[in-house]
Amino acid sequence: MRITINQIKEMKQKGEKISSLTAYDYATARIVDEVGIPLILVGDSLGMVVLGYESTIPVTIEEMLHHTRAVVRGTKKALVVGDMPFMTYHISTEDALKNAARFIQEAGAQAVKLEGGVNVAEKVQRIVDCGIPVMGHIGLTPQSINQLGGFKIQGKTPEAAARLLEDAIALDKAGAFAVVLETVPAPLATLISQKISIPTIGIGAGAGCDGQIQVINDILGSFTDFVPKHAKQYAKLATIMSSAVAEYYKEVKSGKFPTEAQSFPMDESVLAELDK
Ligand code: KIV
Repeated sequence: MRITINQIKEMKQKGEKISSLTAYDYATARIVDEVGIPLILVGDSLGMVVLGYESTIPVTIEEMLHHTRAVVRGTKKALVVGDMPFMTYHISTEDALKNAARFIQEAGAQAVKLEGGVNVAEKVQRIVDCGIPVMGHIGLTPQSINQLGGFKIQGKTPEAAARLLEDAIALDKAGAFAVVLETVPAPLATLISQKISIPTIGIGAGAGCDGQIQVINDILGSFTDFVPKHAKQYAKLATIMSSAVAEYYKEVKSGKFPTEAQSFPMDESVLAELDK
């Protein structure tokens, strides 16, 4: 039985911190699920850390559905959230609903995430009304990077801070089950967390949020183009992978790999027959 949105919401009520990670493939999702992470996001960050795009903007819904299916196949317990990519919920409410439904029907996700606050509240409400749980995402919203003018801290001025609080309240009222706060000053994120009823899931938003989310490649040290300030590396997988690949390369060249242990024998008489 998978974790439900009610269980995620109850964690806030009980003061239990919610840990969340992204995953994009079957094998990784299995590990994350088996550890017991309750909330897995198939983030459109996959555009950067898996597909090598410069931003999340080129990511398509077909790419997101493909990876969401893999994560769903790799999980039994976690609530899987599919991230709606750029321009799949902006044009109209009907379009947003249709695309949200694809994550549930075609990919098997239990919820969707979309970026924005007051500006998307009506769409969130319509999607939720149709039975699809929605996670909001405010603060630094990477799909609007060209409008925001770069990966900057959000909500620093009194006006911007007030807007972020309004956004969070609008998402709560619209029926979102949780909201991601990305790159927001910690004291503001704490205040927002106290003012709304749904869990805040922070990334670069300090310890006062109800939960935390990180891009898995950042915490594993497997993506080396850059390491965001908000990420802590719990491993250096890129270094481990590089030395394993280098050793394999050397052993194939020198003939040390494969040995009998990695080979398959056959009946010598069959071979002798062929070699007459
Ligand atoms: O795409 C993503 O991975 C995200 C998280 C950083 C919250 O939106």
